[in-house]
Amino acid sequence: MKRRAIIAANWKMNGNLSLVKDMIDGMQELQLNDNVQVVICPSFPYLAAFANFAQTENLQKSIQLGCQNVNENQSGAYTGEVSPDMLKECTVKYVIIGHSERRSLFNESSVLVAKKVATALEAGLTPILCIGESEAERDNAQTNSVLSAQIKPVIDEIGIEKFADVVVAYEPVWAIGTGKTASPEMAQETHQFIRQFLADNNAEIADKVPLLYGGSMNAANCEQLLAQTDIDGGLIGGASLKVDEFKIICSTAKGY
Ligand code: PGA
Repeated sequence: MKRRAIIAANWKMNGNLSLVKDMIDGMQELQLNDNVQVVICPSFPYLAAFANFAQTENLQKSIQLGCQNVNENQSGAYTGEVSPDMLKECTVKYVIIGHSERRSLFNESSVLVAKKVATALEAGLTPILCIGESEAERDNAQTNSVLSAQIKPVIDEIGIEKFADVVVAYEPVWAIGTGKTASPEMAQETHQFIRQFLADNNAEIADKVPLLYGGSMNAANCEQLLAQTDIDGGLIGGASLKVDEFKIICSTAKGY
């Protein structure tokens, strides 16, 4: 199966208006391969600015807007929360769900993550479902069981067919923001396991799901990681805050 590459920037709680502007300017100069989709996920307050700048610069097609969280309900008395429909109205297309920081710092369980994926899909957003093991879990040879336990509740909630509209990001927790990257071989082996786990439920769907690698991906290591058969792109944190570095990653991605 030929899959499009997705390079997604996860700014976390970083960045400001001038980074939004610089990123848009930087993206203008980029000659992106048609098979590559760039997604920028700034914090909520910058979504509108990003959308406006991108419109002015005519970049809506090559760069799409994403965000980093969504509530599992469509509307209601949830002070401080943001619903999928609101995001949709602000031209958001992708939403990162289940990032390890949300799981560990905000106690998001895999069941809650599954509900968020379901609500996002209902609103027409594409979830970027994050999964990943801790260092201790990898050392104890629990990687595959941890990843299965993170994916299974989502399959139970939405059904495997809906994975056709889901992006999965494998982000080993020990590699996030640490400068320690999974070796290309290790990342490929784990991505292959994830694809096989999905294929055990539905091979045709598994073949379509873009699998992104995240965890200290940067300009220096992206080429080897992105060259792996089951790595279809990246979810980039730290390196996405540096426009020039992020541009290198985007132009390294080839897609099919
Ligand atoms: P990192 O973050 O690239 O800074 O490791 C990736 C992420 O948390 O999505």
